[in-house]
Amino acid sequence: MPEVENSPAVINKFENMTSATAPAKNVNKFERFKAEKDGLALKDEVDYFAKIGWEAIDEIDRDARLKWLGLFYRTVTPGKFMMRMRTANGILPSSHMRVYAEVVQRYGDEGNADITTRQNMQLRGIRIEDVPDIFRRFHQYGMTSVQTGMDNVRNVTGSPLAGLEADELIDTQGLCRAVQDMITGMGKGNPQFTNLPRKFNIAIAGCRDNSVHAETNDLAFIPAYKEDQIGFNIIVGGMFSPKRYVEAIPLNAWVTPEDVVAVCEAVLLVFRNHGLRANRQKSRLMYLIDEWGVEKFREEVEKQLGHSLEPAAEKDEVNWDKRDHIGLFKQKQPGLNYVGLHVPIGRLYANEMFEIARIADVYGSGEIRLTVEQNLLIPNIPDSRMEAFLKEPLLQERFTINPDNVSRWLVSCTGSQFCGFALIETKNRALAMIKALEAELTLPEPVRIHWTGCPNSCGQPQVADIGLMGTKGRKNGQVVEAADIWMGGKVGKDAHLGERVMQGIPCEDLMPVLRNLLIENFGAQPRQSEYYKPPIAMAEIDGENSDE
Ligand code: HEM
Ligand code: SF4
Repeated sequence: MPEVENSPAVINKFENMTSATAPAKNVNKFERFKAEKDGLALKDEVDYFAKIGWEAIDEIDRDARLKWLGLFYRTVTPGKFMMRMRTANGILPSSHMRVYAEVVQRYGDEGNADITTRQNMQLRGIRIEDVPDIFRRFHQYGMTSVQTGMDNVRNVTGSPLAGLEADELIDTQGLCRAVQDMITGMGKGNPQFTNLPRKFNIAIAGCRDNSVHAETNDLAFIPAYKEDQIGFNIIVGGMFSPKRYVEAIPLNAWVTPEDVVAVCEAVLLVFRNHGLRANRQKSRLMYLIDEWGVEKFREEVEKQLGHSLEPAAEKDEVNWDKRDHIGLFKQKQPGLNYVGLHVPIGRLYANEMFEIARIADVYGSGEIRLTVEQNLLIPNIPDSRMEAFLKEPLLQERFTINPDNVSRWLVSCTGSQFCGFALIETKNRALAMIKALEAELTLPEPVRIHWTGCPNSCGQPQVADIGLMGTKGRKNGQVVEAADIWMGGKVGKDAHLGERVMQGIPCEDLMPVLRNLLIENFGAQPRQSEYYKPPIAMAEIDGENSDE
């Protein structure tokens, strides 16, 4: 993962490496520490780290290599780690949600979890002394956080309705899982893929609305027919970085679902063996494709695969607008329904996580699904149980199924509350602002508002109707938290990235700017009644952290 790239503290540390530890010149520092010791080796050192405590751990192990095990040391909260899990296709059983709840519960106010925009879970507040025990529990339940950070493959995303909807083209559940198992050696860790030149994102879409934002991934599969057979067109090289935002381009290849795992493996091996490693700013897959041209890249993938790839199907089957899945919906299985719950900015606390697990067990099949909009779905609820389900306090008070158009598509990255790269606070600010906007305005259609705390763009402002990217600005001669505004991102059919339209607006002046944008560009109207109260789920949100 590129985590450490922009951190001056970490970079200085590597500058200071002694000649004894520093291998040949011209090799970048990250490559050097990877060559010295693979991150996976830390599996055997975790018990020792737990004994000596976070302050005594070698800094490179603590700040970088532990990310191979999914443990992210957070400088903003000294002594605490964030733990990033793997959730193939965003699907998990209630038992896993309960384990997460138990893990974060023991940290009291400091423990919570986030649903991420890769259909994944991140747990907060973790102390290194607890990690051996947490890993034992993960092992017991078949859960893993392995290879989730630094130069590894991120969570494999898939259609959140896989196996549930009648119009589905390909059920992606098994494919995402098989790709994850291949990359991680069934969750134990796989040294074949622990030293990629940089991070790598894979998405598999099986539906018609590109629910995974395929174009933002290094490698993505998009459903397409060849004659009567359904398979996937492949696109490659999508990436966002502070320096470059680029959509994935066609590989001119079509594969059957059976070939997906082999193609992922071949592409990863080509990237591992030939990807550019000298300059970390230029080591994502797209830079290799730039250097070689897509034809040569394709040939190398074919060589690695051991057979040629069929040319892409002429058109793909992504022809719907993107859906958010919030609300009640019939499944293809007669008599069963799925319900999409709105989780404001993806933040979850232990008591809510226990409740989610309980309602999934009591009303559904015990399954929970996460979406790239940071929301969650409970599938497999029989018609006969729907009425009781909808009366559950969690839906009434916290995670509504009927959010207001203003807040419905709100997405936010972590921001300065926990992330050391952040230039501004995002999640709590985004929530406070959306509540205020919601109280003032009504919108005819939902507007997708994305916040990201720095140019690293984890919150993907480039795909939003209105994107806010944290920066520093000036006001009255003082440096203040500010945001650049992006507009015009399109998702779903004909997805494309938006553009930066305003720069450096102090955060304290953002409200009127957002209000005007919503009125002028999205038909927002002032609310008629001054007695408007926001829907309960938004109103009840704990405002304690709002100003951080
Ligand atoms: C290139 C520089 C980047 C850096 C240094 C970086 C750094 C980080 C950090 C530190 C976190 C964890 C923050 C926390 O929750 O404590 C994070 C999470 C995340 N980032 Fe980035 N990031 C970068 C680029 C991106 C890009 C371009 C995307 C996608 C558009 C992205 C997507 C994510 C996602 C989805 C998460 C949540 C975890 C997950 O499910 O994988 N990041 N990133
Ligand atoms: S975009 Fe957000 S989560 Fe990503 S590095 Fe910046 S502040 Fe952290």
